[in-house]
Amino acid sequence: MYYLLHPHCKLVEGATRGAIYDLYTHKVYSINASALAFLKDCRETPLEELIDVNAQPKTSWGNFIDELSNKQLGTFSPERRLAEIPPPAIEEPTALDFIWLEITDACNNRCLHCYTESCPERHSAKVTHSEWLSLISQARRLGGRALQLIGGEPLLYDRWRDLVIKAVAENYEFIEIFTNATLIDDACIEFFKQYRVHIATTIYADNAEIHDQVTANPGSFALTMTAIEKLRKANIPLRIASILMKINEDQFHPIMKLCAKLGVEVNPPDIIRPTGRGQNKELLPVNHFTAPITPPFYTDPQTFFSAQKNNPCLMGKLAITSTGDVLPCIFARNRTCGNILESSLEDILLEKMLQQSWHTTKDCLEKCRDCEYRYACSDCRPLAQSLDSRNNWYAATYQCSYDPYSGLWQNPTEQHGHT
Ligand SMILES: C[S@@+](CC[C@H](N)C(=O)[O-])C[C@H]1O[C@@H](n2cnc3c(N)ncnc32)[C@H](O)[C@@H]1O
Ligand code: SF4
Ligand code: SF4
Repeated sequence: MYYLLHPHCKLVEGATRGAIYDLYTHKVYSINASALAFLKDCRETPLEELIDVNAQPKTSWGNFIDELSNKQLGTFSPERRLAEIPPPAIEEPTALDFIWLEITDACNNRCLHCYTESCPERHSAKVTHSEWLSLISQARRLGGRALQLIGGEPLLYDRWRDLVIKAVAENYEFIEIFTNATLIDDACIEFFKQYRVHIATTIYADNAEIHDQVTANPGSFALTMTAIEKLRKANIPLRIASILMKINEDQFHPIMKLCAKLGVEVNPPDIIRPTGRGQNKELLPVNHFTAPITPPFYTDPQTFFSAQKNNPCLMGKLAITSTGDVLPCIFARNRTCGNILESSLEDILLEKMLQQSWHTTKDCLEKCRDCEYRYACSDCRPLAQSLDSRNNWYAATYQCSYDPYSGLWQNPTEQHGHT
């Protein structure tokens, strides 16, 4: 008789400990080194040869098996192998899904932290209007399903409406404009409604004083808030982003409260990335940092299998800047994967750099590759890279205190053991 994990329970080995991923309940259980070794032995050797199955009281391994069975993680089996569950279909490696078009790097604001270093004087765009139109068609043909016009301030691009109309004609399922919303007038609202455009915008505070200090544009808060009200009234799908830095770090709750009052979808405010003007260390928040990675971890069949092939955040995405550079993400400013003024989008999709970005799994990362949580844990690669002194794309996730070699979390409250 063998004792085996159920086919929906996957054993993942780390350098020291292991983890059982229960793809039905979505829980991830941590197990220590000897439990890991025991379960590996159970795969090869009948239980009777490993422990005294009739011992009374039960041996500690007998109790461990009971615990696994009670949690429906394992079962007795006369066979050495149980039938495997086939993994779900995972996207094709070259399939494009989401595309950012950074149609201008000019902006009427001059935000302190701006990663594109946008401002009213900046005009280095090189991609022509007909090239943008063609890219919208090419990206759709290559599988693109969702598109976002972004900048700089995309509404400063004089023919932005033509780009939306083109995307609608190409049947994109989702079209979003990421705008500071200061230039939205009634005609824009009518247009968004007509073409079912989604809007994303940014606020940095619940008051003009702080918001306008971040944007360095007096009056910008009033304009953005007026536009938000108009968008809400017209029922245009809207989400609000927010970025925290030293000057507005106490605005996390006020922003969340304001958005709840406005009835607008809000992502919890994020911290500035050290890119572009955001590299200025003076801007870093003093107290408010991104939540560290801690257990419990969760899993499901799609993420478990996909995490072994693809980067969960980057897969299928690319950004094209106003100078034609193709990046795996708007934040990955120093990971240019090609330039659409020199190569076709189709060729760039097959370029090693982009493919490597899409397939940067945790198996490729320093430290994480030896961690048993690696298929249940995700991070922001451009952020990890920009915080690494060597600027290494494969640097370990920075906001994690786990040491897979000792099996210990630096913060003792994060210690999660089993057995
Ligand atoms: C570059 S802006 C372009 C769209 C528009 N101009 C706006 O500000 O909403 C897109 C988003 O990136 C954010 N952003 C800019 N620089 C950043 C940085 N260094 N770190 C994190 N987010 C940043 C902005 O706050 C904004 O929410
Ligand atoms: S963050 Fe947006 S609004 Fe601010 S300067 Fe950059 S592009 Fe302009
Ligand atoms: S960030 Fe890396 S080391 Fe930390 S828990 Fe996730 S996979 Fe493990």
